[in-house]
Amino acid sequence: MDRILERLREAVLGSPWQGRLWLVGGAVRDGLLGLKAGPDLDIVVEGDAGEAVQFLVHSGVADGPPVLFPRFGTAMLRVGGVPVDFVTARKEAYEPDSRKPQVEPASLLEDALRRDFTVNALLRSVSDGDLADPLGQGLADLKARILRTPLDAETTFRDDPLRMLRAVRFRWQLGFEFAPGLAEAIQSQANRLRVISAERIRDEWVKTLLNPAPDRAMADQKELGLLAEFAPELLDMVGVEQGSDHHLDVWDHTLLALHNTTSPDLLTRLAVVFHDVGKPATRTVEADGRTRFFGHERVGAEIATRVLDRLRFANDDTEAVAKLVRNHMRLSSAPTLTDSGARRLIRDLDSLVPHFLDMVEADASALRPGVRRLDLAAVRRKLAEIAAQTPASRLASPLSGDEIMALTDLPPGAEVGRIKALLLEEVLEGRLAPGDAEGARAFVLRTLAAATPLDPQTSGNQEDS
Ligand code: CTP
Repeated sequence: MDRILERLREAVLGSPWQGRLWLVGGAVRDGLLGLKAGPDLDIVVEGDAGEAVQFLVHSGVADGPPVLFPRFGTAMLRVGGVPVDFVTARKEAYEPDSRKPQVEPASLLEDALRRDFTVNALLRSVSDGDLADPLGQGLADLKARILRTPLDAETTFRDDPLRMLRAVRFRWQLGFEFAPGLAEAIQSQANRLRVISAERIRDEWVKTLLNPAPDRAMADQKELGLLAEFAPELLDMVGVEQGSDHHLDVWDHTLLALHNTTSPDLLTRLAVVFHDVGKPATRTVEADGRTRFFGHERVGAEIATRVLDRLRFANDDTEAVAKLVRNHMRLSSAPTLTDSGARRLIRDLDSLVPHFLDMVEADASALRPGVRRLDLAAVRRKLAEIAAQTPASRLASPLSGDEIMALTDLPPGAEVGRIKALLLEEVLEGRLAPGDAEGARAFVLRTLAAATPLDPQTSGNQEDS
């Protein structure tokens, strides 16, 4: 980042823009906190951001043409591969039920007043590196690790309700405390999240989940009434008791599992969030008093799909999370993983296997202390060994439908499909080597000659425990 700032500094040196470009937001804040900078830079311009950007393009510092949004007084430029957002110092007024700001040029102080938090309104001059604190409060709040809004919290959150979610994220991302009244302001207008687009909420939730403390942030989102606005389905887990291997209700178990999810990986963390969301709807208590949740993994996958679709997650991500949720019980009935079990897992989950293992590990880590744990080190070893022998793409019927028809004179139809499924079973069970077409032909002829009923359903599928 210093490299990019140096190039901008040189570009404006001796020009009318010298001293009028100010770094703002995360780059200044995280720099002062000694944290790693984010992937982009935000710059406030004293003057018109579009004109400043045109000047920079002419100076040759940009990677390519700018993207200009004159109506909003903003412009984007890539410098040395880094996206840099420029914004005209401005004040904004929002219509109560709209996110479209009326923008007017303003002083640096007025610009700071319309920002979300005092620590996000600190400025660093691009030209000489000087720090400016137009609100006179940002630096003190940064030192005291306090998240405070520049205006009264109701006004700042009314201007952009997404800031309520940002407050929760920054609290846990930075290890800050809320200023007095901030939590109450969120509670009183959490329902205004409804005016925010699903995409903005999604992006903010993703950042929150990739936080070092996603469980604490989710607890805050629940307490402050924010979760009820964008994922109320998750609240159904609160207070659902489970007994046996569990010492926590479904919600607290989920938060502990999330806490124990070591790698900051989005698919794994979403899968952990949703893994037991099907439990509230499937809970039954047996005559002997045991609590059961039959089919909760399938119901959970449906709920995850509904929530993630609503929040406009990419289809691939939604399908991946649903698949992980649907499969999260796969290892719970078998104490060890057999070769055929490993092949089935690899075939069904393929590139999701690492996410699956991290999810299962997090789930198991949130059970009653002392209950039997799966030996995941052995499971990981077995999966690596089997995957090295046979990648998922080779775990298939060695014969295509056409080849089966040519061999058997069968017409196209369900019978051909059943033979293919049987061949796949043979491969998964290890009785037929992957790609062994010769062995597959012999198997088909032998099976047809013996007129064994061809029913793949009877072969061991251990998925549903
Ligand atoms: N900002 C704001 N209200 C928002 C979003 C952003 O006031 N809803 C202002 C803040 O001053 C913020 C700056 O715009 O610091 C840049 O926003 P952004 O890049 O989204 O966040 P950062 O604070 O830079 O932090 P991070 O990169 O961690 O999201």
